[in-house]
Amino acid sequence: MELSQQIKEHFYHPQNVGEIENPDGFGSINNPVCGDTTKLYLRIKDGLVVAAKFLSFGCAVTIASASVFTQQIKGKQISQLLSGSDEEVIQRLIHLIENRLGEIPLVKLHCPPATVQVFLDAISRYLQKEGEVTLSKRIERLIPLVSEYYKRGEEGV
Ligand code: FES
Repeated sequence: MELSQQIKEHFYHPQNVGEIENPDGFGSINNPVCGDTTKLYLRIKDGLVVAAKFLSFGCAVTIASASVFTQQIKGKQISQLLSGSDEEVIQRLIHLIENRLGEIPLVKLHCPPATVQVFLDAISRYLQKEGEVTLSKRIERLIPLVSEYYKRGEEGV
């Protein structure tokens, strides 16, 4: 299956590549399915994501996912991104990526969830630093739940 136009566009011209010095939030993930790695850096002011950058050593879909995700979360309130039930939060974050990348090949369906996990890792660490221990723990608890979404592509891996 060919990659969609949207994936190619973000892969050839990824947005928000790089690091943020002294980030307010930082997360990293080593995708357990394929070993691809992504790091995410966040600048957060008054609960608002004002900047998001990433570095990825990964496939085209991973890079496209991180590119579109960093675009989508910029300017959003963390409270708005994290509102609702666990499932609602996870679905919302995954849709921020998948609704904008066109059709994703089955064998690549584990890539967008990894970007969501690196974001949850960064937010959880940020909240802990801010003294929001209970909320931080809740967000950390979502990370393994997102792994369930890897399974969508299992038969193709
Ligand atoms: Fe593993 Fe894309 S993140 S192939």
